[in-house]
Amino acid sequence: MEIQWPDHGGQPTEMKRKFHIEKDVIDFSANIHPFGPPSWLKEALKNSYDQISHYPDPSYAKANRSLAAFDQVHDEEVLVTNGGAEAIFLTAKLFEGKHALIIQPTFSEYERACKHYHLEVEDVFLHMNDECRLPLEQIIEQLDWADVVFLCRPNNPTGTVAQESDIRRILEKAKKTGTFLVVDEAFVDFLGDGANLVHLLKDYENLILLRSLTKMYAIPGVRVGYLLANREIIKLLKQWQIPWSVNAFAEAIIPAIVNNQSFVSVSQQFFREELARIREQLVKLNFYMSPSAVNFYLLRDNEKPDSTGELFHFLFHHGVLPRHTDNFKQLNGNYLRFAVRSQQDNDLLLKALADWRDRG
Ligand SMILES: Cc1ncc(COP(=O)(O)O)c(C=O)c1O
Repeated sequence: MEIQWPDHGGQPTEMKRKFHIEKDVIDFSANIHPFGPPSWLKEALKNSYDQISHYPDPSYAKANRSLAAFDQVHDEEVLVTNGGAEAIFLTAKLFEGKHALIIQPTFSEYERACKHYHLEVEDVFLHMNDECRLPLEQIIEQLDWADVVFLCRPNNPTGTVAQESDIRRILEKAKKTGTFLVVDEAFVDFLGDGANLVHLLKDYENLILLRSLTKMYAIPGVRVGYLLANREIIKLLKQWQIPWSVNAFAEAIIPAIVNNQSFVSVSQQFFREELARIREQLVKLNFYMSPSAVNFYLLRDNEKPDSTGELFHFLFHHGVLPRHTDNFKQLNGNYLRFAVRSQQDNDLLLKALADWRDRG
């Protein structure tokens, strides 16, 4: 049977229907915070209920100011967006009809956005067999051709983080070739402090950072993200953004989010410890795990590397829904991506993997 995979994870009902699975499953396919939004967020949303009858402030001044203060940039260097997804599409529009280089395997929406705005796209690939290392020399070579480079850091689906020294090398050469580097930092707040690249903005006018608040705060239903760049870029993008693109609830919760960072630091510690625990177990069971630093990772069976499809079915029938990798370039379905969930859920996954191993 030819499977029509959904483009993204987090669709357990659809997947159960496709695979004729009736029982409850744990969804490891969506890489959002497993514990849901912080408790205070509900109150903040409830308090913003009355905003429903008003148009949001078209300049989003208050939300903008909070984000600018949080990232220590000027208000004019921030644009609030309807999720990271809108930030991706707005950025692609900046380079309409030009040349884009995408570092693959990665989030599929960069390519979709580039195609939408008629960019010619070339791909370069991470060294999957060498710690998912960045193909630095290839990227540098392609800068003469590329007007824009899309890099996801931490990268979806590998969870790996390109080294800052490599980013600086790309930016230095890109300055000379007139190329922009777009770094999607949708998952950067799962890393420790100082891991994002905001401090590079003052040295590099050709750097654009994309952010999402939907992953860490488990609010993909609200749609909230933003973009950091030099003021000329922000001014241009503001002109193109659909009026009231960001809804009043997203606007209202931004100040609360940036002022409640303890949720983030507690979460970072949880993911760091849980990731280390999972890694230890997976090594024992002889599975490959990508050197992820965040809340998801790629997995492949070292003993049966060509049986990933079979492993997917086995796990799904054992109540675990992984994210397929059929639409990630170069992976071609040979890996599965898993979210880091609660300790209890991760133990269920580890038990299912141990059962798979015992099966021989
Ligand atoms: C790397 C990356 N960037 C951006 C997004 C979009 O996130 P948002 O919900 O903020 O639109 C996703 C969603 O999966 C993602 O994986």
